[in-house]
Amino acid sequence: MTADPLEIYLEESDLARALRADVRAGLTAVPRWLPPKWFYDARGSELFEQITRLPEYYPTRAERAVLAERAAEIARLTDAKTLIELGSGSSEKTRLLLDALTAHGTLGTFVPLDVSVSALRQSTAEIAAGYPGLRVRGIVGDFTRHLDRLPTGGRRLVAFLGGTIGNLLPAERSNFLAAMRAALERGDWLLLGTDLVKDPTVLIPAYDDAAGVTAEFNRNVLRVLNRELDANFDVAAFDHVATWDADQRWIEMRLRAGRPMRVRVLDLDLVFAEGEELRTEISAKFRPADVDRELTDAGFAVQGRWTDDDGLFAVTLAQAV
Ligand code: AVJ
Repeated sequence: MTADPLEIYLEESDLARALRADVRAGLTAVPRWLPPKWFYDARGSELFEQITRLPEYYPTRAERAVLAERAAEIARLTDAKTLIELGSGSSEKTRLLLDALTAHGTLGTFVPLDVSVSALRQSTAEIAAGYPGLRVRGIVGDFTRHLDRLPTGGRRLVAFLGGTIGNLLPAERSNFLAAMRAALERGDWLLLGTDLVKDPTVLIPAYDDAAGVTAEFNRNVLRVLNRELDANFDVAAFDHVATWDADQRWIEMRLRAGRPMRVRVLDLDLVFAEGEELRTEISAKFRPADVDRELTDAGFAVQGRWTDDDGLFAVTLAQAV
């Protein structure tokens, strides 16, 4: 079958407006920050794919191992008719779930939701071609804003994988989980991938790899601003920084100005001191009990949790109650 036409809730003009608003708010704040979603233009998405294959970046491999081992059990527990994937990107790991749910015999519809039209066009076409009989409805949207547009009815399983929930600040996270619960009916399911707290000697290299791919990924956000907003960042003059905040339990990525700089972006004339840092991402890490508490507080009951053999990454299955 071919995929249904994409349902578009996020137009290019919305994205452009959101980027300008984020840049204005973040680059005039002290300290300065930018949200991580602007990493992912075509080049940034390709750099992220490269990150997932780095020897230091364990989350993708660990989560894939969990799904490979547990997908059949997840299919049995959920009996899902509709699989919805948030922030689906290339939907590569989702195939493990699609295989198990089609073998289980209940699945009728797959709904990937992503901000990237190009990623969705490609993944919906590939999945529709690979799973005859499956209805594939891609949604162009933002998982923090468009959960009310998800298709309704018939035992839904929402997969939010990769540890992407870790990009949200704690308050954003609880808002997100509450909105997720509100979008679901009692009995529907959420499958949540979370990276786990571990020794910083493992965490830091995952965000500061020897080959420098993560550094390029980090700097890419400045290239996006240069291109989309006609800014004039000297991209190469910013150094990649990855730190572990043990109190907040998150990795923080920053870009550090290697020399004093003046940058023009929008109508702003920004002065960066030498060594000044701009925060570009937080990636929160969890203890299993934190995941349980946050899901329970949002109106879910945890029905299963699995980790890889090395205990690096958790996949939690929760049901709306
Ligand atoms: C896609 C958000 C899960 O936080 O590990 C990878 C993004 N940033 N290396 C993560 C990322 C730097 C990634 N997520």
